[in-house]
Amino acid sequence: MNIIIKDSAADASAAVADVLLRQLAHKPGSVLGLPTGGTPLGVYANVRQAHEQGRASFASATTFNLDEYIGLPAEDPASYAHYMRENLFAHVNIDLDRAHIPSGMAEDPSIEAARYEALIAAHGGIDLMLLGLGRNAHIGFNEPGSAHDSRTRRVSLTPSTIEANAGYFEPGARQPSHAITMGIGTILECRKIVVLATGLEKAEAVAASVNGPSSEDVPGSALIWHPDTTFVLDRAAARHIERAKIRELEA
Ligand code: F6R
Repeated sequence: MNIIIKDSAADASAAVADVLLRQLAHKPGSVLGLPTGGTPLGVYANVRQAHEQGRASFASATTFNLDEYIGLPAEDPASYAHYMRENLFAHVNIDLDRAHIPSGMAEDPSIEAARYEALIAAHGGIDLMLLGLGRNAHIGFNEPGSAHDSRTRRVSLTPSTIEANAGYFEPGARQPSHAITMGIGTILECRKIVVLATGLEKAEAVAASVNGPSSEDVPGSALIWHPDTTFVLDRAAARHIERAKIRELEA
């Protein structure tokens, strides 16, 4: 596991965007795993700018989003499908047939989850997975207690996640309590993983994920087992990482 600590959230976002741009330059037909949420907004802004300046092409790329709320159609402003269109897909030259997001409206979410899992496998797996981290250290919507070998599936969101994400919903709008998420086992199969976490409210989750021990109570700590995971943090999010851990990683 590598840890990169930047002075600011903006610098951390630029560093993660750089990883994505280098991946596309190195392998234009890359299969990318993408997150939503507040954290990656700066990453997507950097990528949009790079595309505008002719420094990034998604013409041959394929993407798989991590998750989607059950019960929200793609047109709903709070859906992750809408988020991805607004923040990335509408602004870059991606073929939308290759930009995959689980359907939150599937009649049977378990069948949809199995279809999604099979589609990832049919594309030969994911080259680069970008992740955010929940305040409770969830990755995707794998909440504490998720098995480290879990696959793409229907999950219940915890009250703390529902509360953390309430701000993304219009006042009075119904907020889903379930989602389809890639599993932790699915995520661990991605060839390279980059986790972006910024702000003090993520410091405990980062420390529990990075310092270990690895446990199902801390979904982010599953990444300890992955051979190519990098945490990109700002100083606030890195605050509780043990100094010894940082020295060990610098050695
Ligand atoms: C989003 C996702 C979640 C978020 C996490 C952090 O697709 O999978 O795991 O990355 O909830 O969300 P923010 O960035 O809003 O703090």
